[in-house]
Amino acid sequence: MPVPMPMKNSQLPSLNAGELAVHVTGITKAFGKGNASTLALKGADFEAQLGELQLIIGPSGCGKTTLLSVIAGTLVPDAGDVRVLGEMLTELGKGEVTDFRRRFIGFIFQQFNLIPTLNLTENASVPLLLNGAGRRKAEKAADEMLERVGLAGRGKHYPRQLSGGQQQRVAIARALVHDPRLIICDEPTSALDRETGHQVMELLQGVARQADRSVIVVTHDPRVYEFADRIAAMEDGRVLGNRPAAEALPEMAAHH
Ligand SMILES: Nc1ncnc2c1ncn2[C@@H]1O[C@H](COP(=O)(O)OP(=O)(O)OP(=O)(O)O)[C@@H](O)[C@H]1O
Ligand SMILES: [Mg+2]
Repeated sequence: MPVPMPMKNSQLPSLNAGELAVHVTGITKAFGKGNASTLALKGADFEAQLGELQLIIGPSGCGKTTLLSVIAGTLVPDAGDVRVLGEMLTELGKGEVTDFRRRFIGFIFQQFNLIPTLNLTENASVPLLLNGAGRRKAEKAADEMLERVGLAGRGKHYPRQLSGGQQQRVAIARALVHDPRLIICDEPTSALDRETGHQVMELLQGVARQADRSVIVVTHDPRVYEFADRIAAMEDGRVLGNRPAAEALPEMAAHH
């Protein structure tokens, strides 16, 4: 596992057994104004449990990335409550939300969002550096994480020298390097072949099975379903249902 973080004031509000990792209610979010506005979320309710890998599925444009951004605190909703790891994000100031996210959340972006001017080791060490770790320690942890996603010895390369799947694995290493409590993944296997996708999902599942962790995965990739503990379905700005995978999967299979 990644090295433990040197953190100041890092105590999370203590989470009680059975408390939710994520609990959002009544989220609305519009982009743009007037005739050009899009209502991306229309009163979305969603929860994710500690110790579980939670999938979110749904058609393109239904609001999945928007919902993840709200949970990560990078997007402020127009209405609704956002409770993450026991903190009501909608009641915190902007700086406090940023600080909270840096410490406790790892995010794998749909478009990877690697920094082109940094090599892979540097890219993967960013979350540790932002949390005040020293450079050598951060880069050592980053290289260990790169090794775990199958990129051993590639640390000195730059993102432009990599295939899409390799870039995606750097994004995954960066999301995990600071050992976050909540990992939010937007299509984490979209660029990966079957074997690599399987390895990445095993890694994420291993994290999710820790009692005080939670992993949320948005996906269009049916190969990911078998790793889910629960599956939520989104449609047109709302979450329609959220069920144990054991219930949801046979039904989904019957429809295909
Ligand atoms: N920054 C933005 N400005 C304007 N509209 C936006 C913005 N971001 C999202 N939208 C709109 O909000 C809706 C939901 O977008 P979102 O990216 O959340 O969908 P998604 O479910 O993640 O889709 P996909 O599966 O294609 O990634 C879409 O209609 C989209 O066009
Ligand atoms: Mg999206």
